[in-house]
Amino acid sequence: MGVLLQAEGIGKKFGALAAVDGVSFTVEEGHVHSVIGPNGAGKTTLFNMISGLIHANSGALTFGGQTITTMPAFRRAAIGISRTF
Ligand SMILES: Nc1ncnc2c1ncn2[C@@H]1O[C@H](COP(=O)(O)OP(=O)(O)OP(=O)(O)O)[C@@H](O)[C@H]1O
Ligand SMILES: [Mg+2]
Repeated sequence: MGVLLQAEGIGKKFGALAAVDGVSFTVEEGHVHSVIGPNGAGKTTLFNMISGLIHANSGALTFGGQTITTMPAFRRAAIGISRTF
């Protein structure tokens, strides 16, 4: 099975605060991953960037080979990305 989701150096700044800074990873089809880290580490910000609730301001995200970095959330849902709150 191939790579489904890929992040290449994605980051998000809120003003001067770098909530997520240069995160890269791949998720292969059929694999399950967890993200762990202390309060304020940037986990929710990372998931928000993946689901499209907010957009990364650096780096790139691809899903199934398609660039989704600034794709709106409703379009990501249409290609199979969703989240719970
Ligand atoms: N909308 C926002 N505006 C300004 N700063 C924000 C915003 N969202 C998150 N932050 C800041 O970004 C950093 C990462 O926050 P985030 O919520 O992603 O962390 P987290 O790992 O999900 O934390 P927790 O374990 O508490 O849920 C924190 O310093 C937080 O205060
Ligand atoms: Mg959180």
